[in-house]
Amino acid sequence: MTQRYGQIVGWGKYAPPRVMTNADCAKILDTSDEWIVSRTGIRERHIAGDGETTKTMSLAAARQALDHAGIKPEEVDLIIVATSSPDYLLPPVSSQIQYALGCRCGAFEIKAGCTGFVYGLSVAQQFIGTGAYNTVLVIGAEIISRFLDWTDRNTAVLFGDGAGAVVLRAVDGPTGVLSFVLGSDGAGAEHLMMPGGGSASPASQRVLDERLNFIRMNGREVFRFASRVLGRAAQEAVARSGLAPDDIALFVPHQANLRILQLACRELGLPEEKMFINVDRYGNTSAASIPIALCEALEAGRCKDGDNIVLVGFGAGLTWAAAVVHLGAPQAPEAVSNWPIRLQVPAAAAASVNRVKNAAWQARRQVSSTLAAALLPLYTRTVKKVRRK
Ligand code: UT7
Repeated sequence: MTQRYGQIVGWGKYAPPRVMTNADCAKILDTSDEWIVSRTGIRERHIAGDGETTKTMSLAAARQALDHAGIKPEEVDLIIVATSSPDYLLPPVSSQIQYALGCRCGAFEIKAGCTGFVYGLSVAQQFIGTGAYNTVLVIGAEIISRFLDWTDRNTAVLFGDGAGAVVLRAVDGPTGVLSFVLGSDGAGAEHLMMPGGGSASPASQRVLDERLNFIRMNGREVFRFASRVLGRAAQEAVARSGLAPDDIALFVPHQANLRILQLACRELGLPEEKMFINVDRYGNTSAASIPIALCEALEAGRCKDGDNIVLVGFGAGLTWAAAVVHLGAPQAPEAVSNWPIRLQVPAAAAASVNRVKNAAWQARRQVSSTLAAALLPLYTRTVKKVRRK
């Protein structure tokens, strides 16, 4: 059976119109534009206004993605929403979005911190790959500003609100998510958490008095963790895809801190222009950050049909994830698309050729990804030895 893949056929994003600059932060906190820019690269972030929620922002991004794909709500087979800031603990915001969009399909939330969107994309690929569904909407949306302690300068200046969405449609042949890596290390849970409001510490006067209903972060520990996993996860996903690092047109990472991204560029040996960066204008929008960055990269022509890109995230959990994504139509059929014209091959024969080429392409990828996975530890050890010298 030909392997099915989810081609990204539509994308959309939403950021609240209200912009809060570093100077605005300095009016309410003991901070400065100089500190924020030099330590994080952030210059401004979007903050949701009255009436805006994770649901309303998701709807705006999802409608744009569906319009872009030319897909009607009733054609959607599944909705996956990555968020840590849903409108309510119950019901899941995914069902509210399904209803408001007018879709007749299953819907669920994924909570994997800032890594959630890449988790969601890899799950969507499984549903499409097995043949269960043809059209899946994946959304990353956050309204982190409502969970920030606006008296805590360690966290308040870092985050912003927004939403991004993509539509995946089943095609035969390799495109969309070619490979992925998912990681989790709960040992670091305390470094980024909201201690109150969940079942361990339900809402109470103590939760409010001790401000446990806000995000707390050990920035230094999360920084160390992010610097460790970002490059490694990206390398592993590329190795698993069977592609060479040079085949990657653009890296679209989670936008948390410019310094983390610069370190990753150094580790991966990448020029900075191969990494998409918009943290300066959005801050850290958690699960929304990668889909927003992907939309902006596509709109700006930084990546296009035919390109292989890497999406890579890290965050609360602690979690990390990376995926190699091929944009546009399947790769192998593209390579044989001239056959009917050049050789006058009839349509049925051309389809058979397509299938054989696809199978060969996949076999080659399988062999090279197995080889790459086997050689990666050796390569990493050698690089470390050379660096130490
Ligand atoms: O998406 C989830 C992932 N989250 C992240 O990736 C965040 C990762 N961590 C970071 O980005 C950085 O650790 C921060 C930006 C949070 C902090 O930068 P840092 O260079 O690690 O600073 P630091 O925590 O070592 O703090 C240095 C100083 C401290 O003062 P003292 O103790 O040295 O006197 C802080 O109190 O900077 C102070 N500080 C601030 N000063 C002005 C912390 N926040 C601020 C602020 N303005 N907003």
